[in-house]
Amino acid sequence: MWPWQSKKIDEEETELNQDRIPAHVAIIMDGNGRWAKKRGLPRALGHRAGVEALRDIVQECSRLEIKVLTVFAFSTENWRRPKEEVNILMALLTEYLKGELKELHDNQVIVRMSGVMDELPLDAQSELKKAIAQTRDNQGLILNLALNYGGRAELIQAIRQVSAEVLKNNLKIEEINEDIVNSYLYTAGLPDPDLIIRTSGEHRLSNFLLWQSSYAEIVVVPEYWPEFGIETLHQAIRVYQQRDRRFGGIKDGRE
Ligand code: FPP
Repeated sequence: MWPWQSKKIDEEETELNQDRIPAHVAIIMDGNGRWAKKRGLPRALGHRAGVEALRDIVQECSRLEIKVLTVFAFSTENWRRPKEEVNILMALLTEYLKGELKELHDNQVIVRMSGVMDELPLDAQSELKKAIAQTRDNQGLILNLALNYGGRAELIQAIRQVSAEVLKNNLKIEEINEDIVNSYLYTAGLPDPDLIIRTSGEHRLSNFLLWQSSYAEIVVVPEYWPEFGIETLHQAIRVYQQRDRRFGGIKDGRE
């Protein structure tokens, strides 16, 4: 059960323009460690609080009828963290999927993953496969978990696959275009993100969705990820709605 029915809708929410809800929101969930440190807590508790924040945001994105929510949960660079922290993050992922799958499925969420699955611990892989298979035919929010994800690694594997097709004479070099490249990315079939939110005040993409972010609006919020709630999401969407998206053209495509 998701408690929308019983939840009082914030007054400020009426200010969200329902006609300009971003189709794809992507979030760099940064600041779990600093949130914990500020409270004198171990980093692990910061990550645990981060999972709680994620739960609320998934629900709210679903309620707002956002089509895709991509969350940067573990990067290819995160393997450099101490082993205990990597283990905790993987355990939290497994626990999240185990604990949430029923509710996600009941609410029509489709679970997807962007990244390299076979380097993840086996129990995480098995929960992911289960969640992806079980929710595949749902009709609601696509929750795209960026796990063991790196934008450069994604592009390298795409270049390798495209090159292999050229070598096999299945594809001519002149035929390589944006659609072809898109089809070899982990995000194949998903729209590009309209809005990328980064928490904890850092103005960096950190190897996230490098190709897909070309025309994304980037909104940086000062809150650490565990502090990021529904209200902050609405604020970020409002900032997005006030932006003038030109995609390299002239305002609204007019002269
Ligand atoms: C950044 O905080 C966050 C991460 C590296 C991982 C994000 C993970 C979660 C929110 C929880 C696990 C995810 C799932 C899907 C269960 P940081 O540790 O870099 O914070 P810091 O920059 O303050 O140290």
